[in-house]
Amino acid sequence: MTKPSLLILPGDGIGPEVMAEVRKIIGWFGERRGLAFDVSEDLVGGCAYDKHGTPLHDDTMAKAQEVDAVLLGAVGGPKYDSLDFSVKPERGLLRLRKEMDLFSNLRPAQCFDALADFSSLKKDVVAGLDIMIVRELTSGVYFGEPRGIFKEGNERVGINTQRYTESEIARVARSAFELAMRRDKKLCSMEKANVMESGILWRDVVTEVGKDYPEAELSHMYADAGAMQLTRWPKQFDVIVTDNLFGDLLSDLAAMLTGSLGMLPSASLGAPMASGRPKALYEPVHGSAPDIAGQGKANPIACILSFAMALRYSFDQGDEATRLETAIETVLAKGLRTADLMGPEGGSAVSTSGMGDAIVAALDASI
Ligand code: IPM
Ligand code: MG
Repeated sequence: MTKPSLLILPGDGIGPEVMAEVRKIIGWFGERRGLAFDVSEDLVGGCAYDKHGTPLHDDTMAKAQEVDAVLLGAVGGPKYDSLDFSVKPERGLLRLRKEMDLFSNLRPAQCFDALADFSSLKKDVVAGLDIMIVRELTSGVYFGEPRGIFKEGNERVGINTQRYTESEIARVARSAFELAMRRDKKLCSMEKANVMESGILWRDVVTEVGKDYPEAELSHMYADAGAMQLTRWPKQFDVIVTDNLFGDLLSDLAAMLTGSLGMLPSASLGAPMASGRPKALYEPVHGSAPDIAGQGKANPIACILSFAMALRYSFDQGDEATRLETAIETVLAKGLRTADLMGPEGGSAVSTSGMGDAIVAALDASI
């Protein structure tokens, strides 16, 4: 049997450091669980710009289209702030999302028991929290036309367009309902139908798709009220579906509820390929954190959990994904912390690679 293929794009900042730990985990599954992957590596973001003058080379794009799954670290950094918008590191990531047509972005916000004290909210508000934000990822104001900075009379005007077709809304709604059906069967859709026509259409289409899921409890909320409710009592939600921009904001908000952005993975899924697997890219929710890059301070858990999502959603290895998630919980329960998980009282932090090694040891102990 040919091995499933993985393209690794570590990217910039802490990306390469956290990805080195994911590589240890991938190696472990190959050696100890007979789950070997055909792994290749390439550049994305600022490092790709440095080498090729573009944040995503066409060859890398082509490779991403062919593999069974892409695993990405992070892109960007202050070194690239003054670059032209068209070649900024983020454009590489956005091109991957768009050309692979990864319309459904799954962003779990889960509170690990060992870290409940770490949230800025009261412990009982966040303990046990487990919600999933499904963010539309390939349309909306991120990609709508017209866009640009234009001259109007004697001043400039900046324009972006929020645009959604019915089919774009319907497919992401369907993926959110499918997910909800495998969880608590509760879906909350967020838009601003009170001020935006695209929001009215969004609400309409989601309601229509919901008729195919009569067992699912569907609710609608304006996105601003949703932000408020997420901070007031997040456990009222199970799955949230929302557009690209609101999803960007709400997923950062939800991530922070859990105590650390360094803990959260994401999956970006598209239509099924010939193999039946969805087109897929997995990446941590956190960014490239240039301020701590190269110091062994980064938390590799979000990136490792992104690989767990790959095991579950691309490779049908839900049990092995759970094994990995449990190993991480074990390590946290033992008190191991990277620098980002240190409370104001301090303590001694384990390095990025120390955390990776501890997770491998916990995996060893699991078999
Ligand atoms: C995210 C990020 C990206 C986005 C940036 C890096 C382009 O914030 O994945 O949430 O805005 O989508
Ligand atoms: Mg974001």
